[in-house]
Amino acid sequence: MPFYHIEVYGCQMNVRDGESLEGILVSAGYRKAPGPDKADVVLVVTCAVRERAEVRALGRVTQLAGVRRRRKPVVVICGCVAQEHGGSLLERFPQVDLVVGPDEYQRLPGLLESGVRAFATGLGSGCDEGVRPVRSMFPRAFVTVARGCDNFCSYCIVPYVRGRERSRKPRDILAEVEELASSGFREITLLGQNVNSYRDGGTGFPELLSMVARAVPECWIRFVTSHPRDFGPELTEAMAGRPNICPALHLPAQSGSDRILERMNRGYARAEYLAKTAMVRERIPGIVLSTDMIAGFPGETDSDFHDSLSLLSEVRFDYGFLFRYSERSGTAAAGMPGSVPVPERLSRLHAMQELQNRITREKSSLLRGKTLPVLITGPGSLEGQLTGRTPGNRTVVVTGADAPPGTFMNVLISRADGWTHFGEKA
Ligand code: SAH
Ligand code: SF4
Ligand code: F3S
Repeated sequence: MPFYHIEVYGCQMNVRDGESLEGILVSAGYRKAPGPDKADVVLVVTCAVRERAEVRALGRVTQLAGVRRRRKPVVVICGCVAQEHGGSLLERFPQVDLVVGPDEYQRLPGLLESGVRAFATGLGSGCDEGVRPVRSMFPRAFVTVARGCDNFCSYCIVPYVRGRERSRKPRDILAEVEELASSGFREITLLGQNVNSYRDGGTGFPELLSMVARAVPECWIRFVTSHPRDFGPELTEAMAGRPNICPALHLPAQSGSDRILERMNRGYARAEYLAKTAMVRERIPGIVLSTDMIAGFPGETDSDFHDSLSLLSEVRFDYGFLFRYSERSGTAAAGMPGSVPVPERLSRLHAMQELQNRITREKSSLLRGKTLPVLITGPGSLEGQLTGRTPGNRTVVVTGADAPPGTFMNVLISRADGWTHFGEKA
């Protein structure tokens, strides 16, 4: 029986796709290898969103391919870099056998069987039909609601490597969610590059979210990602309307400057962004807000950058994912004038990080002495510890209790270190 080894880089979509890849291989008779050196097939699921992500994943491909003797293991590049570069990767990496993009995973067993060197990079119109994933994160699970992206933010490669936006049927989503709940899963994250553009006939995302939450009241429900242009009162009401929808919203702002937001093709202005965060905070007090920000986009002046810093100070996000701009060839921004020198991008990134880290610490420390519900996700790194998540998606390390993953527990928070909190069973 052949053995596989899989490594996943990139976003939640890739994590979820990695689970599908495993499901496809297991149905075709493969088994998981105890490590890469025991595998007959090695798969690297790559991310292309920033240059560093791409270099890192391809570096790992080189490393894994370096140990092979007589085509063992067969090396497969999957994911967004596979889609981006296609067959040219076979020329660049003589020890790679297969290059398979995100909409071609079901062809993998056939390609492996045929023993040829090949690439498969068609972009499809399907959305996770007919695949039984091997779940990797019990008691948490990702459920795809949409694939692809049509937004074409000018810096972003995702629409090119993930294809056009398409939504999954509500009945398929509900069936998956119900099955997860009955197998003991307790946190479900609905996934799409822009969940707000979900649509199936008369069903938009707010209705879908409410339906899912109603169907599995025993589970916590989250979703990513919401585009600020399309986020509005309906989704806010849906979130407020069900107690098991987590009070957490990832709403990537990207920049605080109207001029840069326009050049990014984001479709909203700073004032609208601020109005939406204020609305959601008023309706759902204590909601945990997070963002993505890019430093050093082409044409970003000092003054634009200060608008980004002031947005961070004004909103006071609980958490921020901050990036320096990375040029991706083929995107609209790659041809824009006003490239910001890399050292300047880095120093702006560091200034943003310093500010956001301080805000994150300040907000986390406010939880000291509070009792919060925590979903236990597994053991902690030390003996006698457990780890879990709060509804706001904060990580909590719990001491003095034992419980299996999937247990809900009230925890008295004693201290915080950034996004990680420490506490004891209340
Ligand atoms: N669909 C999601 C996720 C997109 S990728 C969304 O719209 O939020 C995740 C983040 O990577 C983006 O939000 C953006 O902040 C960052 N990103 C994308 N392209 C980038 C680039 N070329 N350089 C730097 N950061 C980038
Ligand atoms: Fe990229 Fe914009 Fe689509 Fe997000 S919404 S995946 S940033 S193009
Ligand atoms: Fe995700 Fe990276 Fe692809 S962010 S969609 S894995 S380019």
